[in-house]
Amino acid sequence: SKTRITIIPGDGIGPDIVKSAIQILDHAGCDFTYDYALAGMSALDATGELIPQQTLDLIEANKVALKGPLTTPVGKGFTSINVSLRKHFELYANVRPVRTFAGTKARYCDIDILTIRENTEGMYSGEGQIINDERTHAEAKSVITRQGSERVIRFAYEMARREGRKKVTTLHKANILKTTSGLFLEVAREIAKEYNDIISEEMIIDAACMNLVMYPERFDVIVTTNLFGDIISDLCAGLVGGLGMAPGANIGEHAAIFEAVHGSAPDIAGKNIANPTSIILASIQMLQYLGMNDQANHILAALKTTILEGDRTTRDLGGNGSTDEFTQAIIERL
Ligand code: NAI
Ligand code: MG
Repeated sequence: SKTRITIIPGDGIGPDIVKSAIQILDHAGCDFTYDYALAGMSALDATGELIPQQTLDLIEANKVALKGPLTTPVGKGFTSINVSLRKHFELYANVRPVRTFAGTKARYCDIDILTIRENTEGMYSGEGQIINDERTHAEAKSVITRQGSERVIRFAYEMARREGRKKVTTLHKANILKTTSGLFLEVAREIAKEYNDIISEEMIIDAACMNLVMYPERFDVIVTTNLFGDIISDLCAGLVGGLGMAPGANIGEHAAIFEAVHGSAPDIAGKNIANPTSIILASIQMLQYLGMNDQANHILAALKTTILEGDRTTRDLGGNGSTDEFTQAIIERL
């Protein structure tokens, strides 16, 4: 029977770019059945909830979801939907690949970096959040566990192996954050010994920031804790032309959610000018996760050629195409 994928179109430009990705998947011969689900503002308006139970059930049943950006309402006591989904499904690995596309105005030409961010612990564990009534003293707890570190570091090495990559760099601040970052680094050193086919490197986070900007071609796979990974993965997106060019996946033992990493872009919503590259790259990640490498490679090649030729890309890429025209140009090259 056909593989079922949960599709969350999301808010703002979400429905436009998700439609683009699905048209491309269909034309690449991916024989999926799609189950549509609501989340975000569109879900709140329709059901009174940001993530309806039905959406959680569909993600759980199908195990694989493709998600457009969601608008989190601000200042109303809502927690981030993305954070809630990561917690609910224990999506412990945030996988953020970046690569340069010829024909874009990115600063570098030969970047191919895969950042694996621990997605559930560290400063984002949500534990020990305290602020006094006078708002003069605040505390938050950072939690790192051996088990949480081990599974994400092992994930990074396994993915490096699968993709034929050469090196894994652990980013840390163990010289200052001796207990938390120290434990993560300790576990990374232990696991490194199991992977003699891959070069293991460690780097202090601040030095890594400088090196990423000066010598990005020296990096291959990066693995790090939650907060550092949040920052570094966006820095890496900047190296290849911004969030519009970078996808992300949130992967756990029982579910995986593939997404665009930019937001819902309310300023350009409904205008048919959003760049669908991020969600198309996310759908390529999804195909790789499903072992459909031929289809993934076909779509990537068509996307590369379309971006290189340039004229039918969206305005943010220097072209003069709409979302639909960009999508059609990719489909014609499949
Ligand atoms: P944003 O990423 O939506 O927009 C920032 C700027 O980039 C805007 O000028 C926008 O037009 C442009 N942009 C973003 N994606 C684009 C695309 N695909 N093509 C062309 N231009 C694009 O970030 P912002 O404005 O801070 O957030 C808007 C909303 O999105 C907020 O409600 C925020 O909570 C939500 N958000 C959701 C995320 C998610 O669901 N993964 C991630 C980040 C923000
Ligand atoms: Mg972030």
